[in-house]
Amino acid sequence: MKRLALFPISTKIEPRADHHYLNIGGHALDQLAEDYGTPLYIYDRATLDASLAAYQDALAKHYPDSAGITYAGKAYLCLAVAQWVDQQNIWLDCTGEGELSIAAAAELERENVLVHGVNKSAGDLSSAISGAGTIVVDNLAELERLQARQINSPLPNLWLRLRPGEPVDTHQHIQTGQESSKFGLNPAEILQAVAYCQQHNLPLTGLHFHQGSHFHEPGPLAAALDTALDLILSMRKEYGWVPDVLSPGGGWGVPYTEDDLPHQPIENYVRFIAEHLVEGCKKRDLPLPHLQLEPGRSLVAQAGVAVYRIGATKETADRRWLLLDGGLADNPRPALYDAAYSALPVRDPEREPTTATWLGGPYCESGDTLISNLLLPKLETDEFIAIPVSGAYQLSMGSNYNGARKPAVIWLENEAVHLIQRRETSLDLLQRDNPLPQS
Ligand code: LLP
Repeated sequence: MKRLALFPISTKIEPRADHHYLNIGGHALDQLAEDYGTPLYIYDRATLDASLAAYQDALAKHYPDSAGITYAGKAYLCLAVAQWVDQQNIWLDCTGEGELSIAAAAELERENVLVHGVNKSAGDLSSAISGAGTIVVDNLAELERLQARQINSPLPNLWLRLRPGEPVDTHQHIQTGQESSKFGLNPAEILQAVAYCQQHNLPLTGLHFHQGSHFHEPGPLAAALDTALDLILSMRKEYGWVPDVLSPGGGWGVPYTEDDLPHQPIENYVRFIAEHLVEGCKKRDLPLPHLQLEPGRSLVAQAGVAVYRIGATKETADRRWLLLDGGLADNPRPALYDAAYSALPVRDPEREPTTATWLGGPYCESGDTLISNLLLPKLETDEFIAIPVSGAYQLSMGSNYNGARKPAVIWLENEAVHLIQRRETSLDLLQRDNPLPQS
């Protein structure tokens, strides 16, 4: 069954009594849903490890001299994920103070922590200076602020973020490389920044760009890499300086539905970058830089599964609805990007998919529709349904809309289950609130 290939690699169909059940990492999903409640998010460690290995094997093969991986924590970060990053000895990209506090709680080595941010606050800069090994500078005002702080405390390594003027092919909300983007510096500003760093003796070591997220064709990376390498030639000519590190960001896409299969492997993306970089450096007589990739989605998306309980079914004009106990508040991606998803029933997932089905959540707007027009068997109230490829940009963009409490998250590793984030409670909703004074 093609849909099953979207689930974590440890997924099986388990025969039990009169039925078959989806099973991940040795655990039947109906049992996990009963034990931990729904909506439930599940992360499968084996799948995380396999995605990382795909990157590391591809780099070892195609860019063996000096390369590394930074996990873009914005895709999903909590203490356990930061600890996984630490165990793997890769880097963690934190957007500002909040994510840096998670890196600190996981006791990551500071050299393995990198900080991004398009308008870093004073607090973000303070946390980055005290807790990170690398800061990626987004704009010239930030560079001046960093220089002002250098007087009191030594700075981590600085990279400059280039706006290459070339986006990747993806939803326009998540394109970042285009000329009009709010992110990064244009080539002229980059040269200005290099001069500024030299003048003020700032620890500049790298050049970075990120053209957007969830693209499936590496082609547009070629133009951005060429822009970056031409810029490095100018830096060498004008300032006698070249960066040690080049980072083309992240953004490699993943298959969300069976229509996206087969999907180009991670190796093709890595090979494309490596070959283009090696060739481009040779052509320009530049030394090969250290290559640092920054994937988020393609490391964690497939490892995650969301499980919901069907609370009611409804027939409306031309539609059969399944009404779930989660939706927009734990997964805003369909509402934000028209993102498509697939799903399987937890019980007897191999039943014939006979019925065009809409999956709606419990929240007060019609945009709270997780899936539209997916063929499913005729499911009934109280069944569980599992949505694969739920590991990236769902919980990390979740909200408390309508008083929603964030779901429980469990981690499956070596047959064991760990509750890595407990379900939020109504008390959590009041945690920040102060009453008005009594009149
Ligand atoms: N590096 C930088 C500087 C980034 O801004 C991002 C993502 C990444 C790396 C990782 O990109 P990835 O490999 O995960 O595509 N909320 C959107 C995605 C926003 C991406 C933001 N930046 C979504 O749900 O599709």
